Amino acid sequence: MSEATYEHHDYDVIIIGAGGAGLRAAIEAKQRGLRVAVITKSLLGKAHTVMAEGGMAAAMGNVYAEDNWMVHFRDTMRGGKYLNNYRMAELHAKESPERVWELEQWGALFDRTKDGRILQRDFGGHRYARLAHVGDRTGLELIRTLQQKVVSMGTDVFMECKVLQLVHDDDGNVAGCVAYWRATGEFVTFKAKAVILATGGVGKSWKFTSNSWEGTGDGHAMALWAGAKLIDMECIQFHPTGMVWPLSVRGLLVTESVRGDGGVLRNSEGKRFMFDYVVDMFRAETADSEDEADKWYDDHSAGRRPPELLPRDEVARAINAEVKAGRGSPHGGVFLDIGSRRSAEFIRRRLPSMYHQFMELAGVDITRESMEIGPTCHYIMGGVQVDAETAATAVGGLFAAGEVAGGLHGANRLGGNSLSDLVVFGRRAGIGAAEWVESGGGGAGFNYGEVEAAVNEALAPFERAEGENPYDIQRDLQEMMQANVGIIRTQSEVDEAIQKLEEFTERVKKISVKGGRAYNPGWNLATDLPAMLSVSKCVAHGASERKESRGGHTREDFPKADPEFATFNIAHASHGGRWDSPVTTDHAPLLVMPDELKALLEEAK
Ligand code: FUM
Repeated sequence: MSEATYEHHDYDVIIIGAGGAGLRAAIEAKQRGLRVAVITKSLLGKAHTVMAEGGMAAAMGNVYAEDNWMVHFRDTMRGGKYLNNYRMAELHAKESPERVWELEQWGALFDRTKDGRILQRDFGGHRYARLAHVGDRTGLELIRTLQQKVVSMGTDVFMECKVLQLVHDDDGNVAGCVAYWRATGEFVTFKAKAVILATGGVGKSWKFTSNSWEGTGDGHAMALWAGAKLIDMECIQFHPTGMVWPLSVRGLLVTESVRGDGGVLRNSEGKRFMFDYVVDMFRAETADSEDEADKWYDDHSAGRRPPELLPRDEVARAINAEVKAGRGSPHGGVFLDIGSRRSAEFIRRRLPSMYHQFMELAGVDITRESMEIGPTCHYIMGGVQVDAETAATAVGGLFAAGEVAGGLHGANRLGGNSLSDLVVFGRRAGIGAAEWVESGGGGAGFNYGEVEAAVNEALAPFERAEGENPYDIQRDLQEMMQANVGIIRTQSEVDEAIQKLEEFTERVKKISVKGGRAYNPGWNLATDLPAMLSVSKCVAHGASERKESRGGHTREDFPKADPEFATFNIAHASHGGRWDSPVTTDHAPLLVMPDELKALLEEAK
């Protein structure tokens, strides 16, 4: 096969994914005069970034002058249950304010304090109100701002272009990718000296999720197949508040801003049940003494925080327990009430999207009635192992930023830390990739054998006259992952998941697709499923290996955190580089934190 076989493009840097991280990376690489392209299987402006509705965490100190990067660093490490890459958490805390001001310069219209500064709101696990926001549409404003900047710089954007696989050069570095146009089904190759993955998350492998159809773990899987490692994949965030009714929108996000702006959780008896869980959570996670439990709540509450604003993993588990105990709402969630606590004018001004979302989709007026909500699969903390400074992976020429990268958030992400993650590490990935190119990295050929193999694999479902329907496999996979690798896990459930995932692998090999290649959603899904399976296997193996409870990984049979497990990440590597190749799981030691940062974690308040 030669270069001429398919439509072909040549760049210095390509970015796969057009959410906040991808767009911020593109701006940085483009500003350095490089030839840059952004490739997205979706449309520009449509990314999971918009689901970070409530804000962007940055210690600017506009509402609480006491706030600073050190407190933000400490909150992030505590929220992540100390599994974080400390250097990423440090850079993130230090650089987030600069990234907010930069967005403002580029046109983002943040809400203001009375004296005209950027207003910051409360969110779970943050000691101070520190989320810069635009009502409850912050992610949308961030994407809109970055998109305008990217386009105004003349960056090439390839939309509705689904990347199948990364391609190596003769030195084993990543040298580009092979993709197809969703509109025509025609294949296209992209050669580049550096590739930045910014593909977001994996939520579509669960039944109830805030993720849209794009969240199929493409970047996680492609990095794994290309030779990078994935870490802490068992750490999945179930956002406490997704819609539970009507069924057609189950999982749709209800922003944490509702609780940040005064909303409270109640069970079927009308009780604010979160108070009951504070001590229990402490017991489950650390020790058994009542005194220590009091101290823990003091530390977490900072004397003023309602228990609804505990970190998300803790609130989601409490909701789950209320429902299991028979104190849930009619459709299997609990109640979120802001109408009895804030004025209708306040709610409509601060939470316009939530007001409309419930009015239009559920016929519920949240200024007067409670919302029915329950946990929804929102985010994966685990991801591609990267270098904190440059976002480089272990594979030459390959970089990763945003949700697809692991490390920053440890075992649990604090709300609001995602938008700041995207721009802090999107920028760093852009710089890292540019420096790789400028120092002569990449360019040693393009492996057309890999292109041919990926194309043949993608076309195989058309060759089979009979076989499995991709939608059946997707539905069964989602149900299985929800049941076996959901909020609470046991060894027998994850063992069953591991075995079932092998059965799904055989089913994927038998997929049959009818019709042509142009806008064929069945075929598109067939090309997503290999990534969904690779990623789900890492999640299930990680969940089996981590015999403790920590952050977004709760084991009913190991309910406490085990200090031993706080010394390493659980890492996965592919042997063979194909989607069905064996994957091994081992332990990667955590970076050792310098004493001055350790001291920050010890400091009380
Ligand atoms: O609830 C929210 O608005 C989501 C924010 C986030 O995931 O960071």
